[in-house]
Amino acid sequence: MLDFAKFTKYSKPGPRYTSYPTALEFGEEYKYDEYINKLKNKDTSRPISLYFHLPFCRNACYFCGCNVVFTSKEDKMLRYVEYLKKELKILSGCLDCNREVIQMHFGGGTPTFFSAEQLEIIINEIKIYFPNFVEGAEVSCEIDPRHINEDQMRVMSEAGFNRVSFGIQDFNEKVQIAVHRIQPYEVTKAAMDLARKYNMLSVNTDLIYGLPFQTLETFKETLELALTLDPDRFAVFNYAHVPWLKKTMRKIDETTLPLPDEKLQIMQYTIDFFTSHGYKMIGMDHFAKPEDDLFKAIKTGELHRNFQGYTTRGGADLIGVGLTSIGEGQDYYAQNFKDMKSYEKAIDEGKLPFEKGILLNEDDKIRKFVVMELMSNFKLDIKRFESLYNVNFKEYFADAIETLKPFEEDELLTISDDSIVCSETGTLLIRNIAMAFDAYMKKHAASSKTFSKTV
Ligand SMILES: C[S@@+](CC[C@H](N)C(=O)[O-])C[C@H]1O[C@@H](n2cnc3c(N)ncnc32)[C@H](O)[C@@H]1O
Ligand code: SF4
Repeated sequence: MLDFAKFTKYSKPGPRYTSYPTALEFGEEYKYDEYINKLKNKDTSRPISLYFHLPFCRNACYFCGCNVVFTSKEDKMLRYVEYLKKELKILSGCLDCNREVIQMHFGGGTPTFFSAEQLEIIINEIKIYFPNFVEGAEVSCEIDPRHINEDQMRVMSEAGFNRVSFGIQDFNEKVQIAVHRIQPYEVTKAAMDLARKYNMLSVNTDLIYGLPFQTLETFKETLELALTLDPDRFAVFNYAHVPWLKKTMRKIDETTLPLPDEKLQIMQYTIDFFTSHGYKMIGMDHFAKPEDDLFKAIKTGELHRNFQGYTTRGGADLIGVGLTSIGEGQDYYAQNFKDMKSYEKAIDEGKLPFEKGILLNEDDKIRKFVVMELMSNFKLDIKRFESLYNVNFKEYFADAIETLKPFEEDELLTISDDSIVCSETGTLLIRNIAMAFDAYMKKHAASSKTFSKTV
């Protein structure tokens, strides 16, 4: 049973730790040539995970925190496909693309804003440059159920896509109107049926709690409806409201947002609801059927966290392609330009559209390991950590252990000589717990307008 009082006491704004250091620390100190050298000198035995950012959407959902280009112009999209092709060509000159690809993800925006023909062109081009997709590679796409037809699903299925993720957010009409996203249940159901018809191995659906006009009662109905779709996974995101960063969020009337108390009740109910219907909780915001790879990965200790959230495939170099996409190697992060003009200009000059990044120092690597272990598995094997990094955990992290003392006294976690283990309520405060190990936190402590609230 969750302890609401403790939860509210500790909860405060914090990063979601899809990377460590967080993207806020990416800068221009990490130079283009250094990055290119990294790509050129990569250990070719490490597999590749590809991320393609397909950023277009027609209309803004007011809650949207993604990197989106709003357009209805076909020529803009065709132009983007041409630039993706050019980027791939430049990339192939910097990277050994014959390495094994174990994972590929199309994210957005809405990748299925591209027609079946356009998607086919993009996929074929990728396969020319990256010919070695392994048998059983995890190939996935984010889909807006309002923008998917059978031709698109067929093209993806024939190309080896085996996982899809559908955005639902909320089924309640009043909520949908307030966030400018009208999506009747039947539309989502039709998309689900298509995914099943084309034998997708795993189907995920996204919900968000914390949206305008949501109450425990309305969200209960949304959960009941969502359950009838029988997806393999649910992501239930806490609405990250950052209107100082995202203009469209300013269209949301803040007085209509549920208060922290209501949000906590929604979260508690959601956990009880899914776990009593056969789903297992994964990480801080996912639920999966026991037979889904995500749950199997927990048992084998292979659950990892990256920019797409939780994943079963670690140990690969993540290569990002397209506007704003982020790549991740063992000791760096690299991000492409966020504005289209700079993105195109770089490519026109024959360069990768790399804008900024960070080269991890030893301290970053050590802290990254701890933060990611906690975020994925809610525990840390201290002995394993010490043998990997050859440092004394309790000495190295004396200040973090001190910071976590109140958490320990409140039974949100236990710290022994061998491990850190979070309690059930502690798992929901995992962002706050991970923050104790974040060396960059002090820099941001004074600003309340940096991260979204943890509740
Ligand atoms: C790129 S979208 C998914 C695909 C498609 N564009 C759609 O909306 O159906 C990724 C997901 O991020 C989540 N999301 C977007 N903005 C968010 C926010 N501000 N806070 C929490 N989750 C958010 C939504 O659940 C959304 O489905
Ligand atoms: S939530 Fe999805 S469909 Fe809505 S604006 Fe964002 S990316 Fe586009």
